[in-house]
Amino acid sequence: MAGEIGRKTDHWGSRFGFIMAAVGSSVGLGNFWRFPFTAGENGGGAFIIIYLICVLFLGLTVLMAEYAVGRKSGMSAIEGIHSLARAENKSENWQVVGWIGTLGSFFILTFYIVISAWVLAFIPQAFDGTFTRFADEAARLTAETGTTVSLADVSSTNFGQTISNKYMIGTLLAAFIALNTFIVARGVKGGIEKAATFLMPAFFILLIGIVGFALVEGDAGAAASFLLTPDFSKVTMATFLEAVGQAFFSLSVGSCLMVTYGAYLSRDTNIPRSSAIVASADTMVALIAGFAIFPIVFAFGADPAGGPGLFFVSMPIAFSQMGALGVWVGGAFFLLALFAAFTSSISLMEVGVAWLEEREGVTRPGAAMGIGFVLFMIGMGYVFSSDFIDFADIITGNIMLPLCALLLAVFAGWILSREMLTSELGEGTIMNLWRFMCRWVVPPALAFILVLGTLTKLG
Ligand code: PHE
Repeated sequence: MAGEIGRKTDHWGSRFGFIMAAVGSSVGLGNFWRFPFTAGENGGGAFIIIYLICVLFLGLTVLMAEYAVGRKSGMSAIEGIHSLARAENKSENWQVVGWIGTLGSFFILTFYIVISAWVLAFIPQAFDGTFTRFADEAARLTAETGTTVSLADVSSTNFGQTISNKYMIGTLLAAFIALNTFIVARGVKGGIEKAATFLMPAFFILLIGIVGFALVEGDAGAAASFLLTPDFSKVTMATFLEAVGQAFFSLSVGSCLMVTYGAYLSRDTNIPRSSAIVASADTMVALIAGFAIFPIVFAFGADPAGGPGLFFVSMPIAFSQMGALGVWVGGAFFLLALFAAFTSSISLMEVGVAWLEEREGVTRPGAAMGIGFVLFMIGMGYVFSSDFIDFADIITGNIMLPLCALLLAVFAGWILSREMLTSELGEGTIMNLWRFMCRWVVPPALAFILVLGTLTKLG
């Protein structure tokens, strides 16, 4: 091969910009769409406790490892892990970790864009008052059929009809991919960071407004008891696997995403501190989303274990109850979800683009357009057969992310020397603690959860 691959030359413009981009990557559909239905399907409170433990003990450790490996190598995940292994005279096969992560990111992105297209479809619905007509529709159908048609029934019919409008979803999908391609093609500082510094603050302002409404309008008591009363009798090893998968998905850990973002990180950014900020911001938003969605689920009799449709069925019910205000609150809410999804999807696209642009003769815009095109082809497949979404979600969340995280912890804790990462994580208590977790806690815990969780699921 002609020439060595060099370190990335594009960098985050400022620490604030990096934090916005990293929080933007973490906070996304994982918090609004995936967290509530996964918590709902796994019994609520007990799941959430296990989830929090996974974030604190497993997620945070791997997050730090990803940034450290990324900044140390300064390359895409695949090439970076390869070069660090070589520098330590270790097997170059360790780059397989980069491959699992990069393919995992791509695989996540294939369905992420479809869910984002659903979100896009709900924005005009909110603004044209579709949700505010739910009650009339329910009354009309009840009178017509003679059986009680609930708001939840009307809302799920609306969801089903919306996502089966293949022409419209396909168009929105193309638009969403085009926007991603455009931003990623502009680069890390000029594209991703700029978008995140604008969208994330807007996101947090909208979020505060929405939560206020949910608490006033919904059944906050029932939501609190569902979310906060743990029922450990339903917990199995499969619950642990779901919780780990959700924690990693939500933090953007185990997909080498943070390795990639770390490659653009400047020396003066403190990795442990940034990791703590990202993990706490993401966890807070997930809990807030839970408190926005479950009050409504309980107040209007939707099914908490309703699966991937939960978000799209229960939120419109809430907006349908707010009168004219519902139009604005609903519109703002889906816009919020779109912002969050977008700052995550550009990050997912960056993982592949970062690697592709290191190939000879490939430019960044070329890489972004190539990936965008393939994404559209696969995404259209999901539009026609949405069962594949569940499949891709399970393979990535329950297998690829935990496996990549496990191997990365072994790589950072056992294969790389302590001295190699001192420049990234410093020397002292944090390093000691992190290294201990990376060596003795994360790998055995993940191996145990992966094997037993999978067996329980299959059994
Ligand atoms: N963390 C993102 C979310 O919660 C999804 C994601 C997963 C992004 C993995 C990057 C890598 O929506």
